[in-house]
Amino acid sequence: MGQGFGKAYEPENGVNAAGNPSIHEVDGGRRHVLRCTSAAVALLMGSHTLTGHAATSAKGKPLGFTGVPVSSADVLVVPPEYEAQVLYRWGDATGIAGTAAPAFAADASNSVQEQLLQAGMHHDGMEYFPLDKNPRHGLLAINHEYTDDGLLHSDGMKTWTADKVRKSQAAHGVSIIEVVERGGVWRVMPNSRYARRITATTPMAFSGPAAGHALLKTAADPEGVRPLGTLNNCAAGQTPWGTFLTCEENWNGYFSAQDKPTPDELRYGLRSKGFGYRWHEFDERFDAVKTPNEQNRFGWVVEIDPQDPTQTPVKRTALGRIKHEGATTTLSRDGRAVVYMGDDERFEYVYKFVSRDKVKSGGYRANRELLDHGTLYVARFDAQGYGRWLPLVHGEDGLTAAAGFASQAEVVIKCRQAADAVGATKMDRPEWVAVHPNTGEVFLTLTNNSARGQGGRMADASNPRNDNIMGHIIRWREGKGQGGSGAFDGDASATEFRWMHFALAGDPNAGKAEYRGSIKGDMYGSPDGLQFDAGGLLWIQTDVSTSAMHKGAYANMGNNMMLCADPATGETKRFLTGPAGCEITGVTFTPDRRAVFINIQHPGETASERGDPAQPKAVSHWPDGPTGGRPRSATVVIRRKDGGTVGT
Ligand code: FEO
Ligand code: CA
Ligand code: CA
Repeated sequence: MGQGFGKAYEPENGVNAAGNPSIHEVDGGRRHVLRCTSAAVALLMGSHTLTGHAATSAKGKPLGFTGVPVSSADVLVVPPEYEAQVLYRWGDATGIAGTAAPAFAADASNSVQEQLLQAGMHHDGMEYFPLDKNPRHGLLAINHEYTDDGLLHSDGMKTWTADKVRKSQAAHGVSIIEVVERGGVWRVMPNSRYARRITATTPMAFSGPAAGHALLKTAADPEGVRPLGTLNNCAAGQTPWGTFLTCEENWNGYFSAQDKPTPDELRYGLRSKGFGYRWHEFDERFDAVKTPNEQNRFGWVVEIDPQDPTQTPVKRTALGRIKHEGATTTLSRDGRAVVYMGDDERFEYVYKFVSRDKVKSGGYRANRELLDHGTLYVARFDAQGYGRWLPLVHGEDGLTAAAGFASQAEVVIKCRQAADAVGATKMDRPEWVAVHPNTGEVFLTLTNNSARGQGGRMADASNPRNDNIMGHIIRWREGKGQGGSGAFDGDASATEFRWMHFALAGDPNAGKAEYRGSIKGDMYGSPDGLQFDAGGLLWIQTDVSTSAMHKGAYANMGNNMMLCADPATGETKRFLTGPAGCEITGVTFTPDRRAVFINIQHPGETASERGDPAQPKAVSHWPDGPTGGRPRSATVVIRRKDGGTVGT
């Protein structure tokens, strides 16, 4: 989602006011404020001798498709040698075994019970899990990030009822669907034994250091171990043992807090009316005055076994409570799990979790406690291209009872405050992380931060532009090198890294130099989704908010898009453009790379991020066309017409 949900959402909502220093202050006092002149960009891009980056300086791969131009049309455009098929729209039947398959009502009159058996709204992060030897038969786990209640109900939010709250909650969460391809056509399997909907009310479990802690206890759950539901599930991840990690992002917006929130509530952006979802009017869980601990039960990474529809989803508290964008898992050299996670808000941090134990073969059953034991770190990006992972461990580095952290449970519940205390680097909205399949190099999107440069929070080496409305992509290689062997060998469990920028986004023809960027190839802004395919091509998706789109420096950028880049050369080519008012997100591939799945989120979204039920198609009628009832978020599968490998 964008960061401007209606007028209820103040731009400074939850902005990090912590006093920990920025890069130029921690690094020997050397000021490193760069303006984005081309000379400065060249200096920045070239200033880091690429010890350990050797593998990515290899010869580039050709991007074997016809790039598409920017577009402001209300259509999904893919290269001429590709075809796109809409697979799973909001309101399409999930295909749950033994249930009805209610048809979508074009006037949004489906009941709560029907919505519970249908795709939710606002598809976001997504992963593909192959089921058997056929690479094109598998499960898709799909996040439904939030709802546009202007479009979810026939008369929008004009009247407000308990049923509307329940329908909104039912349209949140996750879908697990079974999909298969035959003869080039994909379909969602009806009556699937795997298919499942998880919503904002599904029974879940807590595990890890905060499970059962007093701050997680409520009257409905006096033991603090059985939370209900997940919401604002943004990006996601897939573990090596075959589970889906879904991430709770802007959960604060669902709670109505007291007029004067506590400092801890303020640090996470709780406000008296939230973002205007109005759940608290009929569900006391979301009234933070009546149920003050309920908000502590959100902001987690949730593990779901897509193969077992009876599994209770588990909130993994060892991974910290933040506004989780995603959770990208890789393996360390010695076989432990390493999970990279962004906290998507202005001036927030990048985290990683390193498991104590090694990943075992045997799927979820053999690894069900793997994410409960390990070390959580937060990143410090020092100037001159080095960085460190700072452990967030109770009793270390000032994280003591005297400082407000009585136990590891309090460190993970107040994760942002702990990261403030150890001196993490404030970044320009950390979104997705992608790990190169061969080199282990890590890439991170920093989507934008128009407040950079204000209030003394100036540009620094890793966030080099003030008024950073275009965003950038940073890359790093882990290892033990600083002051030693110089070997940044890509071991994901290391506590040091060597970083550089991959690209500063922008329009090369923009009026202001700061908005022009350093992209080698097709332009884009506000990078968000980021994924490597198994061949090492980097796929970039954009989330320009509907309030910024087509205006100012974004005037010539068109609708949101997906691009493909070669990390070795930086060459970037636009692969698709979305319909009007949408975000492009959720990129995942079949193992044979013959199909790529993406999500079109909130086509037709208005600048207020809530539609007008009297004119639901004012911005877009995608995907159903002029005869459809309203625009619908949807999963789309894209393949080459000749059946070949996508992107090559
Ligand atoms: Fe839900 Fe950070 O995008
Ligand atoms: Ca975003
Ligand atoms: Ca996102």
